[in-house]
Amino acid sequence: MSEEQADTVIYTVEDGIAWVWFSRPAKRNAMSPKLNRRMMEVLDEIEYREDVGVLVLGGQGTAWSAGMDLKEYFRETEANGLRGVRKSQSESYGWFRRLRWFQKPTIAMVNGWCFGGGFGPLFACDLAICSQEAKFGLSEINWGILPGGGVTKVVVDLLSMRDAMWLTLTGDLIDGAQASAMRLVNECVPADQLESRTAEVARMLLQKNPVTLKFAKDAVRRVGLMTYDEAEDYLVRLQEAMNFHDKTEGRKEGIRQFIDEKSYKPGLGAYDKDRAKAQS
Ligand code: COA
Repeated sequence: MSEEQADTVIYTVEDGIAWVWFSRPAKRNAMSPKLNRRMMEVLDEIEYREDVGVLVLGGQGTAWSAGMDLKEYFRETEANGLRGVRKSQSESYGWFRRLRWFQKPTIAMVNGWCFGGGFGPLFACDLAICSQEAKFGLSEINWGILPGGGVTKVVVDLLSMRDAMWLTLTGDLIDGAQASAMRLVNECVPADQLESRTAEVARMLLQKNPVTLKFAKDAVRRVGLMTYDEAEDYLVRLQEAMNFHDKTEGRKEGIRQFIDEKSYKPGLGAYDKDRAKAQS
């Protein structure tokens, strides 16, 4: 039976959180052209929904994602010549990029296998939480390619040079605890706590000013390549642009609730954004 594109990614929205799932468990959630196209559609459908404040990306079954689909993404598209290869590359890189700059904060919730091309969406997510049972590896070396599709860049940006080189040259698997120690992910938790801990982190983000979250996450990704002076200037402009876009004037409200009302302490949590000016 041929697989329907719509079945390759599923999602639900609950209490401000979009739970998006790689959904090819029988193929260990390998990313096929159908899945890549569907994922872009899903991101389109949820990015600006007002009832979505955080996106969580999880995997159905035993894998988060076994990387690019060796049959459908590589072999079958190569059979269509350069046009086929470039098309499938632009579809996968397209949604990875879309996810990197997604309007809402994003969390990778890694339950199991995460190989090769899976590091693309892993990096695209702002935060990452994994299960102790997760297993990460750059298997490319084992089948004769280098980690392409941005993956080498991802590991060099996220890891030390020694760790990046080790994973690249050996194809060794690391478990969740090792991935956390290397800072490939933020946290590693027991498998039975993965969803609850992820939901807890998502709820914490939902308390924050959503406009600020978007500007702040973009700033973290962008300043890395700037000189100090460029970053200083960029952050001044970004803050000003943010003030313009935040129609709730959250910054003033945050100061007011602390200085005048004394109803919260910024060092200990977020101001009550529900009492800020209604958003326009
Ligand atoms: N591309 C295409 N098919 C894949 C796949 C991938 N990346 N990963 C898994 N599959 C398919 C298998 O071919 C198999 O298909 P079949 O049932 O039609 O035979 C099915 O998914 C289940 O895989 P299987 O190997 O039996 O599962 P497992 O749980 O024993 O092992 C892995 C899981 C992930 C360790 C193993 O499938 C694997 O090594 N996959 C390739 C990982 C990889 O190198 N990814 C990098 C791509 S850049």
